[in-house]
Amino acid sequence: MKHKRALRAAVTIAVTGALAAGMTLALTSAASAGTTLGTSAAEKGRYFGAAVATGKLSTSAYTTILNREFNSVVPENEMKWDATEPQQGQFNYSGGDRLVSHAQANGMSVRGHTLLWHAQQPGWAQGMSGSALRNAAINHVTQVATHFRGKIYAWDVVNEAFADGGSGGRRDSNLQRTGNDWIEAAFRAARAADPGAKLCYNDYNTDGINAKSTGIYNMVRDFRSRGVPIDCVGFQSHLGTSLAGDYQANLQRFADLGVDVQITELDVMTGGNQANIYGSVTRACLAVSRCTGITTWGVRDCDSWRGSDNALLFDCNGNKKAAYTAVLDALNGGSTPPTTPPPGSGVDTSAWYVLLNRNSGKALDVYANATTDGARISQWTRNNGTNQQWQFVDSGSGWYRLKARSSSKVLDVYNFSTADGAAIVQWADGNGTNQQFRLASSADGYVRLINRNSGKAVEVQGSSTADGGNVVQYADWGGSNQQWQLVRIG
Ligand code: XIL
Repeated sequence: MKHKRALRAAVTIAVTGALAAGMTLALTSAASAGTTLGTSAAEKGRYFGAAVATGKLSTSAYTTILNREFNSVVPENEMKWDATEPQQGQFNYSGGDRLVSHAQANGMSVRGHTLLWHAQQPGWAQGMSGSALRNAAINHVTQVATHFRGKIYAWDVVNEAFADGGSGGRRDSNLQRTGNDWIEAAFRAARAADPGAKLCYNDYNTDGINAKSTGIYNMVRDFRSRGVPIDCVGFQSHLGTSLAGDYQANLQRFADLGVDVQITELDVMTGGNQANIYGSVTRACLAVSRCTGITTWGVRDCDSWRGSDNALLFDCNGNKKAAYTAVLDALNGGSTPPTTPPPGSGVDTSAWYVLLNRNSGKALDVYANATTDGARISQWTRNNGTNQQWQFVDSGSGWYRLKARSSSKVLDVYNFSTADGAAIVQWADGNGTNQQFRLASSADGYVRLINRNSGKAVEVQGSSTADGGNVVQYADWGGSNQQWQLVRIG
């Protein structure tokens, strides 16, 4: 650990000196790069949240990720009308309260979702109409917003009230049939009940400039001009395999109306483009100053309402996916392509790469910045230090040495061992077969590094997630601790 503190101190001194000298500084973002979604977003003045099913808070594998990575939560179902007012006038806040407590105990903000929506209404409301329904709906807004008063960062006051397709008009629903002014009535009631919460309109299929998003845009503009209290627009962003080219421009046109924008329910269909889309959405939010945060609709793929789409940032075992790294890189200002070049296309031997372990998310690192032969190779929290930068040196026929920028030594299976668990060290480049590796392809752009002499894979021993975790060779079984993402940084 000591060497890292020394390194950080050195960077700080260098930064201070450079600033004193009035120099432009490219190091700043790398030096302040966070290592979790929440801390990295916070460094950019934003939150990074997840939708939470409160029943899962007692599952430690789930809560560990939630608490480590996210600094905002939204209940996936627990604040909806059917949950909070199952019988008319009888309120149940148990699930919502539980999530609010968890958030408060862990320094997370809470998005409230949702006060009025055509779906997930209690049966009694579904059967109502006219002024009885309108009164019941406004009472619901008042009661729920009052109960959570002071605890909610932003409420989705109204959810999904616009129609899909080309009309740009409202969706037909029992609420809409109570009169077109139901939305503004809901916003006014919410403001009166909780003046401190930001009040949002939230919808899907609004990711580009289209008839639906324009209908909402016109409503927000009208509300702003007439003083109807609205502070933000939520873009659910349940996405497929492509992203609207005008996604950022769409966010910006809403922001230009004087409201905040938020990405509220992000999830992306699995496929070759998933990581890129996640990265692009993140960059779009960062590029719009009034985009205050991003929420993914769940934590792990298996928590997702989208079933087999594998649409989230963590796989079912809690491993970080390539999409995760793409988001973190974007939050940290990385302008590099987020995904590994496919092994078939070769690596760029003029580039410097950080190699991130799929299981731990940590970087391949020459321990303690050593420059000696035989120094151990470990994993460490990514900091883009020169002891985490590797160049692929071509040995021909698809074999490469991996040269550390800090020492100019190469990865080496110590003493030509062919045993499982044998140490990976650095050594002067002799182009030995124990120094040559090929890239084997795993899913989602990750690769395994297979040694030419032993045929074994470079892995983080024991699937450690700790800084300093040992890097060894082991039989190639494809484990996530044997998978690496190549992030080009220079
Ligand atoms: C979904 C939940 O994820 C599911 O658990 C539930 O069965 C149905 O609702 N848009 C929204 C969210 O605004 O409330 C929805 O959540 C997903 C689509």
